[in-house]
Amino acid sequence: MDGKGQMDPSGFDLKVVGIVGGAKRNGNTVKLVEEVMAGAKEVGHETVLFKLVDMNIGHLCDRDGDVSFPEDDFEKIKPHIESMSALVLGAPIWYDCVDSRSLTFITRLLYYNISYSEENNAKWPKKAKAVNVITYQRDDMHFYDHILDWLEHIWKWYGMTSIVGLVAEGTGSRPIERRIDLLNSAREIGRKL
Ligand SMILES: Cc1cc2nc3c(=O)[nH]c(=O)nc-3n(C[C@H](O)[C@H](O)[C@H](O)COP(=O)(O)O)c2cc1C
Repeated sequence: MDGKGQMDPSGFDLKVVGIVGGAKRNGNTVKLVEEVMAGAKEVGHETVLFKLVDMNIGHLCDRDGDVSFPEDDFEKIKPHIESMSALVLGAPIWYDCVDSRSLTFITRLLYYNISYSEENNAKWPKKAKAVNVITYQRDDMHFYDHILDWLEHIWKWYGMTSIVGLVAEGTGSRPIERRIDLLNSAREIGRKL
């Protein structure tokens, strides 16, 4: 620890968990989320990044008429969720919604929803922060504000406190790597986690 980072009462640095949907391992969304993570690392936080394209995370299933969860790579993410101080979700917009992997990930969080299980809900870290990163081709930076509102609404269900949105519009003509201001904003968001 470099002295700038925060410590939780147990003496460990705070943990920031990044989850990136979409189909690309090194696309716009990954690059922007990585910049948030780099900012968090700079101030001493532990960072863990999951690219959903490399994971097998399935849909909710039916077991004897009840909703159940498949046994899959979500198990690898669970311990990190349960010890995180902040979640950074990066989702490219697909067909005016978050991409399908991000949506499946969010849906799997039903496991921690109080309506599903009070016991599981108790494992969700209290007052964790959230950063919602969306990237898309359209040029209007407010076109998908309703998606950010929707994500914020979900995280509030989970008791998350400080919820920040970061938008990269127009990625078709202006890919992330050329957007120094946006990369700087991402890093600053990470530093403040
Ligand atoms: C299947 C698919 C659907 C898309 N739908 C939209 C859309 O509805 N609106 C939009 O502005 N961009 C849309 N895009 C463009 C992506 O959101 C955009 O290129 C994004 O920055 C890609 O992120 P990535 O580089 O991390 O994959 C779509 C792209 C794909 C592949």
